[in-house]
Formats: sequence, C-alpha cells, structure tokens
Amino acid sequence: MSTMTTETTPVLEARNVTMRFGGLTAVRSVDFTVNAGEIVGLIGPNGAGKTTFFNCLTGLYVPTEGTVSYQGTVLPPKPHLVTKAGIARTFQNIRLFANMTVLENVLVGRHTRTKEGLWSALLRGPGFKKAEKASEERAMELLEFIGLEAKRDHLARNLPYGEQRKLEIARALASEPGLLLLDEPTAGMNPQETRATEELVFAIRDKGIAVLLIEHDMRFVFNLSDRVAVLVQGEKLVEGTSEVVQADERVIAAYLGEPFEGDPGAAETAEVDAAEAGTTSTKGEAQ
Ligand SMILES: Nc1ncnc2c1ncn2[C@@H]1O[C@H](COP(=O)(O)OP(=O)(O)OP(=O)(O)O)[C@@H](O)[C@H]1O
Ligand SMILES: [Mg+2]
Repeated sequence: MSTMTTETTPVLEARNVTMRFGGLTAVRSVDFTVNAGEIVGLIGPNGAGKTTFFNCLTGLYVPTEGTVSYQGTVLPPKPHLVTKAGIARTFQNIRLFANMTVLENVLVGRHTRTKEGLWSALLRGPGFKKAEKASEERAMELLEFIGLEAKRDHLARNLPYGEQRKLEIARALASEPGLLLLDEPTAGMNPQETRATEELVFAIRDKGIAVLLIEHDMRFVFNLSDRVAVLVQGEKLVEGTSEVVQADERVIAAYLGEPFEGDPGAAETAEVDAAEAGTTSTKGEAQ
C-alpha cells in the first residue's frame, strides 16, 4: 500500500479517546487513524485496552472523553448507527446465532442495509420475504468469498471453531462496510486456518475495505499490516510500519521480549509460539 506517497484519505479518526471504568483508565488519550486501503494492526499485552478501544470505536462503549469520526463525520456512540455508517466488526468471543443456519447468520448481518429491520429479518415478515431474494444472493456471494457456501444450511453451532470465525467475518461483511474491525480473528485457529485468514484479510482489503485488526499472533500482524500500533496499559506507545515497531526498544521491553529480525527464524518462531500460548485466553472474557 505504501508504493507511492499519494494523498492519504482517513477513513477512521479517533481523537483523544479515553475510557474509564471507575478508577481504572482502560484507554488513555488515544489518537488513531486508519486510512483508505490500509490494513492496520493493533497489538499489546493482555488487558492493554485493545478490545475496550474497539468498543469505543463501535459505539458499544461511550468514551469518557474523545471523539470517533468515520469518513469525516463524528459518529454517535450507538452500535447500530456505527454499523449503518459503514463500520463492521467481529468479536473476540464469537457472537453468532448458534441455532440459526450459516446463511441465516449472514442474512441477519444484512439488516442494516435492507429497508426491513432486524426483527423483520428474524421473524421473516412479509417485507423481509420481498427483500429476501436479493439479500440471499448477496449472502451467498459472501459465503462463496469465505469458502462456506457448501455449508449454507448447517447450523452455526455445528461448525468447527475456525469456520465460525470465518462466518463472523461474512456476517460483518454483509453490512457492506467501508471499514472492518477484527478482534483476534485467528484465536483458536490452526496454522493452516491462520494462513487462509491472512489471504482472506488481503482479499477484503483488495475489495476496498480498510481493515483494523487486533491480534496476538505476531507473524500474522506483521505480515499483513501496513502500519501497527502498540497499546500498553491503555496508551498508544508506538505506531509505525512493521519494521519500525519490531525495532522499537520500548515495544521490545513492554511486549515482545526479544527483537525480531526480518523473518523470524525457527528459534524465534518457537519462542513466539511459546509466548503466545502463555498470553492468549488466560483470563476471563472482556467484551
Ligand atoms: N466493562 C468493563 N468494566 C470494567 N473494566 C473493564 C471492562 N472492560 C474492560 N475492562 C478492563 O479494561 C482493561 C482492558 O481490557 P481489554 O479487554 O480492553 O484488554 P485487551 O487489550 O483486549 O486484552 P486481551 O488481549 O486479553 O483481549 C482490563 O483491565 C479490563 O479488565
Ligand atoms: Mg481483547
């Protein structure tokens, strides 16, 4: 993406975002931008405030201070209005309708883009049936895009974990976003699934959708991201290209433990895997 230094158009702009829970400041005065066409990584240790920051961006939390703008307009802190504006997300803890089919889950994701509302979609009222055909075609396109078209009639709860994560992405894409936020998209995936997800994120970006992703898998983040921001104890410590972030002493001290040099070698890879095994899902769910 950084081939030519043409002008950059901000898609998302967070200004001075702070989120306090009682005495705890989970996010502190964070300025953050995602530009059109970018894949941006957000990393940091467990409890750094990454998910809380996502929740501030998507209207799930009303930030204690600061504003979030999408394409130049300040967003009201209401999830459905944020989705309608063009930001879609997936969750660290998968949130699918477990007893609905794969196709139905994607159709529900389309409710902000059809005249009929969520309840109409869920209850399948008369208005929904009319809009259904077009919606279903689009949903099937998305299922083909993520490679789950053959499982359209399976119940979401019967999918393996990695496919549930992919289905969440399809559901998010169904709202036709301009920006997609992914909270730990590869958590629980095996290396092959992670690799496929990497390709999927590139393909999403190539469709003109900017991507902001939280991940603990460092290779995944540094391979994918045009820029990486590091959050430590709620504050943005460093931001830059993968090379800049990997070389920054403060990041190494705060988070990585060991410097990365280009492609990690086998020893580093093993260390990172061990570190990841120790840092992921060690605590309760914070959504
Ligand atoms: N709703 C809440 N009420 C009170 N404290 C919260 C709430 N949500 C998050 N926190 C706290 O805010 C801090 C940041 O949590 P958050 O989940 O944002 O971290 P994270 O960077 O996403 O971590 P992880 O990598 O483990 O997912 C933690 O101390 C957490 O306990
Ligand atoms: Mg989190």
